Amino acid sequence: MTKSTSDTMSGETPGKTSDKAISSWVDLSAYNTLAIPALAKELCVVRHVEELQTCIARVKQENLPFLILGEGSNTVFLQDYDGVVVLNRLTGIELVSQTQSTVTVKVAAGENWHDFVAYCVSRQWYGIENLALIPGTVGAAPIQNIGAYGMEVKDTISELEAFDVSSEEVLSISNDACEFGYRESRFKRDWVGNKIITSVHFTLSKEKALKLDYPALAQNLTHDSSLKQVFDEVVSIRTQKLPDPKQIPNAGSFFKNPVVSVSDYQALQQRYPDIVAFEHGQKMKLAAAWLIEQAGWKQKQVDGVRVHQHQALVVINPERRPGEAIQGFAQALKDDIQQRYGVMLEVEPRLIRLTK
Ligand code: FAD
Ligand code: EPU
Repeated sequence: MTKSTSDTMSGETPGKTSDKAISSWVDLSAYNTLAIPALAKELCVVRHVEELQTCIARVKQENLPFLILGEGSNTVFLQDYDGVVVLNRLTGIELVSQTQSTVTVKVAAGENWHDFVAYCVSRQWYGIENLALIPGTVGAAPIQNIGAYGMEVKDTISELEAFDVSSEEVLSISNDACEFGYRESRFKRDWVGNKIITSVHFTLSKEKALKLDYPALAQNLTHDSSLKQVFDEVVSIRTQKLPDPKQIPNAGSFFKNPVVSVSDYQALQQRYPDIVAFEHGQKMKLAAAWLIEQAGWKQKQVDGVRVHQHQALVVINPERRPGEAIQGFAQALKDDIQQRYGVMLEVEPRLIRLTK
């Protein structure tokens, strides 16, 4: 079983500009969902692992900085990028193995995430349906262990393959080695710039197993609901709450929900009885959107940048301002939240800075 798809990206039509394998001083507006108009010294499109290998070998030889980019839905270009942006367009889906109750598929890193979710749902494979409509590539999904509506991608990843920049070999990496956590993995820490994910292996269930604990899902669904109904409900909720980057440039949640000790949470609750929080292991995860909304940020705008009216955690860039404007807004918001609540917000997307 194999499958190929053409380039797609929520927000833009990068496929149109990616016909050439290598281009110089390219405007990245169409390659990041915040529509930041930064330039890249070079854009190198890779459609096969061999092209990736050739591109990285040259980049190393010429001692150029490089950045792997999927669909740019979790990337903030703070300035122009004086290096090579390597656009991952590796495609293909293969069946690896199956049992009576599970199926394992290997998916190339440049496949579109939502298309892959739809592909699984159409085959009655359970395990990632709550992650429908998350923008981006399959290869970026493990980077921050994408999550939504009570599901995290780590729970379906059996292993993945990554090109190791130092050894120039494709390595197989186990789930455990990735050290996945809430919006975390080693790909955001010590593996940045050295491990390029080329494919991900997912093990999904052929037996019905719905995850409906998240309050918004429990409202309209029951365990009698079909897989397709869950998928449709997730798409519907997300469409109502989150801005479509095609219409309003954004990168999803700009901050992580802060995880605090139970005692810190209780102290905050004394002061703010309505504060929203969820259990997170032995700790509490605060709803950052609540903190931001209560602090009045839905009414504020700095340098053309603001938060979304329906989701205060989503910073929007309707005027397509440069990265400095986004950063200025985010810093002012962070400082204010720290001052009011004593809570430090952590930026979720990756901030890229490399000037001419
Ligand atoms: P990019 O932005 O292209 O890359 C992100 C980072 O990963 C960069 O540092 C890049 O260098 C690195 N990277 C990308 N590909 C590779 C690779 N193959 N190998 C090594 N490094 C790589 N996220 C959630 O978790 N849950 C949500 O519900 C959610 N909702 C969103 C809603 C909207 C409207 C938007 C715009 C974003 C949302 N996100 C969400 C964030 C985003 O969709 C995910 O982080 C997604 O996985 C990013 O994919 P991408 O291909 O666009 O990554
Ligand atoms: N809330 C407000 N004001 C708002 C929005 C929300 O007060 O404007 C409060 C509500 O009380 C709500 C609570 O915040 O119950 C939580 O809101 P929501 O369910 O929308 O989820 P979230 O915590 O804001 C997280 C993820 C999203 C993911 C959703 C659904 C993070 C940083 N964000 O948002 O992921 O889609 O849950 O599971 O964990 C992303 O990472 O980019 C992202 C969009």
